[in-house]
Amino acid sequence: MFHLTEEHLAVQQAARDFAQNELKPGVIERDSKGIYPTEQVKKMGELGFLGMMVSPEYGGGGMDTLSYVLAMEEISKVDNSCSVIMSVNNSLVCWGIEAFGTEEQKRKYLPKLVTGEWIGSFCLSEPEAGSDATSQRTTAVDMGDHYLLSGTKNWITNGATSKLHLVMAQTYPEKAHRGINCLIVEADWPGVTIGAKEDKLGIRSSDTTSIMYSDVKVPKANRIGDDGFGFKFAMKTLSGGRIGIASQALGIAAGAYELSVAYSKERSAFGKPISQHQAIAFKLADMATEIEAARLLVYRAALMKDQRLNYDQAAAMAKLYASEVAMRHTVEAVQIHGGYGFVKEYHVERLMRDAKITQIYEGTSEVQRIVISRNVLNGELYVPMLNTQSAELAH
Ligand code: CAA
Repeated sequence: MFHLTEEHLAVQQAARDFAQNELKPGVIERDSKGIYPTEQVKKMGELGFLGMMVSPEYGGGGMDTLSYVLAMEEISKVDNSCSVIMSVNNSLVCWGIEAFGTEEQKRKYLPKLVTGEWIGSFCLSEPEAGSDATSQRTTAVDMGDHYLLSGTKNWITNGATSKLHLVMAQTYPEKAHRGINCLIVEADWPGVTIGAKEDKLGIRSSDTTSIMYSDVKVPKANRIGDDGFGFKFAMKTLSGGRIGIASQALGIAAGAYELSVAYSKERSAFGKPISQHQAIAFKLADMATEIEAARLLVYRAALMKDQRLNYDQAAAMAKLYASEVAMRHTVEAVQIHGGYGFVKEYHVERLMRDAKITQIYEGTSEVQRIVISRNVLNGELYVPMLNTQSAELAH
């Protein structure tokens, strides 16, 4: 149904080899000690996984979104700290700059971001602005040729390691969300302070921190888009980001499923492999069915983005469903593994812990339901993927 070209299959195989051969050894220790995957991220840059969709003109891979989700799925079967670093860099930071930045911004920043020389972060959430993202308290005061940026951002993926921050901040409070700007901030500018690394349930080796800005001088040339475009920028960019997190959730579910199938064929109880007991076989059947449904939603959203159709609803559906499938079936994977599932050596408990965040970041499941229900109530019951009659430029 979805035609994977030779190029897609090659990307998928390269990501699978990298994940199984280079991420799997050491992933348990990195997770349990919260060690940042420095070498692994460097290698992801060398292999082209950090700027997959960026045009070759700026040093990127020039690939489509489907290639990106195929790679995300394989890497997420194994190491979700690496895949969230990859996802934020690709779909929030690089894509956001390439889609909406000036030529100067693209030439200055993208070549560094695609190689991993620089990692980027997306700074929208605040202590009191999570799902309610319009309530930005961080301010960007217009000083003529520059802004003075002040405020605190929370839960920032790549917070400690990113050299470039895309920061949403309020310039015209009286205009509410229409007064928000997005500024490109370099981490070593005076006034930027990075908080301590959070000690998390899952994705434990990625660095999640708060970031404080105190009168940081940001040149006007570093604003993305027109004055007041920042909230729309964040929403448009997050739609693509949600496809990345959906593919992460898909990879988590698929990884737990593959481990469960293999384990259930090896492990015997009551005189036969546990896969031969209907109690286990039916769990595997449900996993296989729901994972395939999630995969179709994720690939569909990616193809709609590639075809420049409006993919907001498709991305929200893919993220909502894939993350719920990841949570539900990683719990089942632990159950299938029994006592072994409860210890780190068998990998499924880590995938279960990692699954939880996919229902929270880049818009909680509840936020996805807001996006979907508003579309549904506006009459967009179903957007056929290949119907170019209803095509609408995505940006
Ligand atoms: N594209 C363009 N514009 C959009 C848009 C989209 N997809 N969605 C909303 N907008 C625009 C609306 O048109 C509106 O603009 P106008 O008034 O000018 O028409 C404006 O944004 C406000 O929209 P709403 O009225 O719908 O706002 P709301 O407050 O009712 O709801 C929301 C918005 C959907 C709940 C939104 O706030 C949201 O998505 N919240 C979740 C935020 C989020 O995903 N945070 C993740 C943090 S980043 C992260 O997690 C990265 C990481 O590190 C892994």
